[in-house]
Amino acid sequence: MRLLVCGGAGFIGSTFARQRLLEHGDQVTVLDKLTYAGREENLADLAGEAGFGFIRGAIEDPEAVVGALTAARAEAIVNFAAETHVDRSIAEPDAFVKTHALGTYVLLEAAREHELPYLQVSTDEVYGSIEEGTFTEESPLRPSSPYSATKTGADLLVQSYFHTYGLPVLICRGSNNYGPYQYPEKLIPLMVLNALHGDRLPVYGDGMQVRNWIHATDFARAIGHVLEHGVPGEVYNAGGPDEEANIAVVRRIIELAGASESQIEHVTDRPGHDRRYSLSSAKVRALGWEPRVRFEEGLAETVAWYRDNAWWWEPIRSGEYRDYYARQYGRALGG
Ligand code: NAD
Ligand code: DAU
Repeated sequence: MRLLVCGGAGFIGSTFARQRLLEHGDQVTVLDKLTYAGREENLADLAGEAGFGFIRGAIEDPEAVVGALTAARAEAIVNFAAETHVDRSIAEPDAFVKTHALGTYVLLEAAREHELPYLQVSTDEVYGSIEEGTFTEESPLRPSSPYSATKTGADLLVQSYFHTYGLPVLICRGSNNYGPYQYPEKLIPLMVLNALHGDRLPVYGDGMQVRNWIHATDFARAIGHVLEHGVPGEVYNAGGPDEEANIAVVRRIIELAGASESQIEHVTDRPGHDRRYSLSSAKVRALGWEPRVRFEEGLAETVAWYRDNAWWWEPIRSGEYRDYYARQYGRALGG
């Protein structure tokens, strides 16, 4: 397949691009705005590969989108492009509305005009928080944050293009991803890098919030699987095999990084913080997908990757991230 992968310079999009190019023989053109989270470094190993292309541009820019579709001679669009950090959506929601609402609309219009299948990458956060049990694709949509509310709006717009125009759309909703190349504003890479540097480990509230962890290679495979085997108009959840409380994740990172529990600091909770996420993946499993990486093993490999790849995170920890960290945590990085 010739794919246009929007947001492919981010964490999961670059994992997907690598997998489709190297393991499936697809041609991949990435269209990415290169926000703070989008980095060409994430695609450095693919740059010389035949069948790979990169275009800098925003999904809300119709000219950039049509130009990229033409350059890619795309047979399908896969959209990862998003603002993805809940804390940033609470502090500054505007970019979330623009990218998720307007950007998704521009991509859907382009898909309609060029008669292309369209896959939207989405999140378990559209269902909100669940104390017990697990969400299915039929669960009500009850997003809590500006991030998840705008992702939900995008999902509804995508579904409307199926019902109204017959556009062959798919939606794949993932649980919390982890693995190499994840920007260190997110729990696991933030804690790993702080642990390795001897910094404090800021746990929100009591740390008993539960997340359903999936390795990014497993989520990327689920997206590819849905693209190949999914029924147009349908939603597929892809949840990880393990659930864990945040504090347990932090303690395991401390062990793996050789850090100290005295580095843990309980800080003010996130406003509107979802207590637990849990996804049933029965529907995508019925199509033949299943996760391969258990959290225990994946987390150890992830800590080792960050320890061994300072070239990747050093420019982040010395750039814009320092300002973000000071705003979000009320202290300088390294403190
Ligand atoms: P990320 O923040 O690492 O990357 C997002 C990418 O999108 C970046 O490369 C950024 O430059 C690009 N981008 C942002 N706005 C853009 C725009 N307007 N036009 C073009 N490119 C733009 O995100 P991620 O964690 O890789 O998430 C990718 C997708 O997966 C998102 O849609 C997210 O909602 C979804 N998702 C993420 C997780 C998770 O745990 N990280 C879980 C489930 C679903
Ligand atoms: O569930 C899927 C979602 O997972 C994705 O859609 C989002 O894009 C992704 O950011 C992620 O959202 P979360 O809010 O769950 O991830 P985050 O890494 O920000 O936080 C995970 C948990 O850790 C959450 O309960 C908040 C907590 N946390 C996070 C940070 C950054 C802390 O306790 N301290 C922190 O410093």
